[in-house]
Amino acid sequence: MAVPFFTGVREYQRKKGLFDKAMEEVLLRGDYILGRDVSALEEEVEAYLDVPYAVGLASGSDALLLGLHALGVGPGDEVITSPFTFFASVSAITRLGAVPVFADIDPETFNLDPVRAAEKISPKTKAILPVHLFTQTAEMGPLLSLAEQNGLALLEDAAEAFGMSYRSRKAGTLGDIGIFSFYPTKTLGAYGDAGMAVTHSEELAQRLRSLRRHGESRRYFHSEVGYNSRLDTLQAAVLRVKLQTIDEDIQARAAIASSYNTGLNNIQEIRLPVIKPECDPVYYVYSLITSYRDDLKSYLDEKEIGNAIYYPLPLHLQECFSFLGYSEGDFPVAEQTARSILALPIFPDMTGEETEAVIEAIRTFFNTLG
Ligand SMILES: Cc1ncc(COP(=O)(O)O)c(C=O)c1O
Repeated sequence: MAVPFFTGVREYQRKKGLFDKAMEEVLLRGDYILGRDVSALEEEVEAYLDVPYAVGLASGSDALLLGLHALGVGPGDEVITSPFTFFASVSAITRLGAVPVFADIDPETFNLDPVRAAEKISPKTKAILPVHLFTQTAEMGPLLSLAEQNGLALLEDAAEAFGMSYRSRKAGTLGDIGIFSFYPTKTLGAYGDAGMAVTHSEELAQRLRSLRRHGESRRYFHSEVGYNSRLDTLQAAVLRVKLQTIDEDIQARAAIASSYNTGLNNIQEIRLPVIKPECDPVYYVYSLITSYRDDLKSYLDEKEIGNAIYYPLPLHLQECFSFLGYSEGDFPVAEQTARSILALPIFPDMTGEETEAVIEAIRTFFNTLG
């Protein structure tokens, strides 16, 4: 049985009436840019996350860029972050002329290791940028203390973390600014690009609102050079429909993760996700670790069972960042993780038969290893 890694089409078909109506209302109102649904979504996300300010932006990548810009990160500043993340966490730093300073990750959670991060503080450090990968937040307690003790800004890359919590507080609301991606595969996913930044600071929220409109203070008057980075109204309308059932969708992901945990539990050659006690997880991605990764991947590809490698090459080894002067061996945990990690399909509309087919295929692969 072929199993897609992800499809958004089933959800659309299931709730076609709601999605069509939401999009049609935008088209009939004609408020395409920063329309009613954008401010309504911002308010609904503020309520869901329990945070006073949410600012809709064009993508998670832009949210990182505008977030760092709003925090005053600029040329020569150092920003401590993880080498094991999606490209945009780091390109946002270099695009502002700042310098990414990597610290290795925790081998169990794949998130920035606070002890390693502390070792990287220098007089040039301006901010810490932890990334909440796959299922759970980084260890925010120690990271927030580190930022506070050293007078640093903290931006949470919560692009993957919608709905996750750390000590009962929602991901994205713990630092100075938290950013989200609503890329279609995400737990809260649009039908195109979309993103958001959230903050407790009215001043930062105002700056973000200005930055997304070319730095305008009022129409055609610019207090600084900003960006064109508005959350599209049609996407906001789609996201509002999806936000209504987000907790059920998170629950559906947890049920699939639980089936994987049970079905794959006794295979010696793989390590299943490990969740820290402070974290309430959301299974945006279900990744396992195995030294047979490449062979398992080929086997699943052959059986048309969706899978993905997040991420095959850590950021310190990317060609475009060679000017930073890092080399192989600098971050052994990130490098080893990149060689052995594999993500399985997980999305709310996945069927029980599909989940079983994934488990069966993996069990067969390891049984035939001999
Ligand atoms: C950790 C992380 N940061 C940033 C992004 C960028 O978000 P977007 O694709 O919406 O630009 C993503 C998702 O793609 C991500 O997973």
